[in-house]
Amino acid sequence: VTNKIKHIGIFTSGGDAPGMNAALFALVKTAERNKIKVSGFRKGFEGLIDNDVIQLGARELQKTMHLGGTILKTARSDRFRSIEGKRQALKNLQKNQIDALVAIGGDGTFRGLLSFSEISNIPCIGIPGTIDNDIMGTDYTLGFDSAVNTAMKCIDNIRDTAESHNRVFIVEVMGRDSGYIGIYSGLAAGAYSILIPENANDLTYLIGKIEHYNSENAFIVVLSEGDELGIELVSSKIREANAKIDIRLCKIGHVQRGGNPSARDRMLGLRLGAMAINSIVHGEKNKMAGIYSNQLNLTAFEHVVKQHHIDLELQSLLKLFCR
Ligand code: F6P
Repeated sequence: VTNKIKHIGIFTSGGDAPGMNAALFALVKTAERNKIKVSGFRKGFEGLIDNDVIQLGARELQKTMHLGGTILKTARSDRFRSIEGKRQALKNLQKNQIDALVAIGGDGTFRGLLSFSEISNIPCIGIPGTIDNDIMGTDYTLGFDSAVNTAMKCIDNIRDTAESHNRVFIVEVMGRDSGYIGIYSGLAAGAYSILIPENANDLTYLIGKIEHYNSENAFIVVLSEGDELGIELVSSKIREANAKIDIRLCKIGHVQRGGNPSARDRMLGLRLGAMAINSIVHGEKNKMAGIYSNQLNLTAFEHVVKQHHIDLELQSLLKLFCR
């Protein structure tokens, strides 16, 4: 155990995700137990560059665990990509006598920290926070479970009106270039068809299936935003093929990114937050804290890349229930 760490800087970066506040609480509480001071940098890397720093206490943060978003605010920073931006950040960290950093964010955040390690010796630990669940090195990212639950409830609501009119609905969910939110929310809500970027989608087959089922039933298609066909093209092809099909579109959008974090995301935030501080205290650096098969683990930043596949069991469920 190294006792050198006296002051840790923390921040949230990239898209906000439910569960980030629980992770912030866990970081500060665990640090306090280790007699380590914590400063929060607001708006991600932007706050490091602008020295936008605030003091954080566990007692106050505990009251925010049930809130979505991030109380530290977040940003996608272009300035940190430049060497000048990184140098300015390092200057501020030195001025504040910060011995280590913990960042909650996505793969862009970890790439930022990896390149920062070329000019700085400050140890950094990352926590995966993004609704997209697209990061290697962890089974789940903070915010994914909450976003899936929100998307599922939206699809449930759409089903009520869709069934009443025997309408076809195409519901677009987020995920950037990952189909995880699509496949989880679609399967959980009983969608008849799920289109995700990881799969080659057959429109002729989809149209045939809609024609077969739609006369006496609604038909719900869940489409991930990263799918190459896209919601507009899919809907116009269906209309072109059969003008009688009554079709409506719904993009859930940022609704699925907000809202109170699920119990699962709060617990994940607490576990990864505690682990991040313990890892720093034990001399770890430049690694992401994650969970594999429900066990805590660390992955070096250079191996934390975007995940571009859906596991085989999920793919077979998709075939079983939606083909
Ligand atoms: O990465 C999270 C995410 O919500 C993606 O699912 C989506 O593509 C993107 O962020 C939207 O970004 P913004 O909030 O900057 O529009």
